[in-house]
Amino acid sequence: MESSPVEVDHVRAAYLDLMQESLIGRLNEDPPLPASKVDGYRADYRDQGWDWPSKAPSMIGAQRMSNVRTQCERVIREGVPGDLMETGVWRGGACIMMRAVLSAYAIRDRRVIAADSFDGFPAPSAPADAGFQFSDHDAFAVPLEEVKAAFARYRLLDDQVVFLKGFFKDTLPSAPVEALAILRLDGDMYESTMDGLVNLYRKVSPGGTLIADDYYLFEAQRKAVDEFRAEHDIADPIVRIDHFGGYWIKCA
Ligand SMILES: C[S@@+](CC[C@H](N)C(=O)[O-])C[C@H]1O[C@@H](n2cnc3c(N)ncnc32)[C@H](O)[C@@H]1O
Repeated sequence: MESSPVEVDHVRAAYLDLMQESLIGRLNEDPPLPASKVDGYRADYRDQGWDWPSKAPSMIGAQRMSNVRTQCERVIREGVPGDLMETGVWRGGACIMMRAVLSAYAIRDRRVIAADSFDGFPAPSAPADAGFQFSDHDAFAVPLEEVKAAFARYRLLDDQVVFLKGFFKDTLPSAPVEALAILRLDGDMYESTMDGLVNLYRKVSPGGTLIADDYYLFEAQRKAVDEFRAEHDIADPIVRIDHFGGYWIKCA
């Protein structure tokens, strides 16, 4: 007997709810990395992504993970063409959510593109990044094999996931991408954000979503986004997600 649309919706939502809780480390109350300087697991911190989980694949917290999910579901529902891409993937969690949404909707003709050095942040070179000294911070250098292993544990590693390894300034100008329905910028720094905008924003389809993970937290990311929007007369309103992130839907 075939499942009814209501039953399909129910099972799909249950799967994605569980994925979200697992990916941010709330399901198993994954304690924070010592570098987070937080004493023990706190559900309210994990809601906003204030700490970094020691094992779970994402540091973005429940609000921003929910935003990834709902925007991916929206572009699928509305038929906005293109792949789903993140620049700055760390352990891969937000990209795993993108792939999980494709799986939940049985979508075969869109890909997830995951771009990262898989070796941590670059040394700052733009004046706006002068204070951002994380290039020797081991916690951010997650090797590609570890990220692939995380996708595999969720049974989501396949040919619909493309990894772009290297610093954005080298990989993004020739990224093998024609159209994007979602572009999620999570490289924190001014230069990393600008590299994403300059090389990829024109590929975002009308109706697609641009997510700036740290727009409200890091001045460097906000500066890059604001400069790019001003230069390209982008007036689409920025919607606040939580203490950290914002997004807008590209009108044209
Ligand atoms: C805040 S973490 C990303 C968190 C991730 N989105 C999640 O779901 O937890 C930032 C990542 O951006 C990467 N990154 C930042 N700037 C980069 C650049 N210019 N080129 C390549 N990778 C970069 C770092 O290696 C790091 O993995």
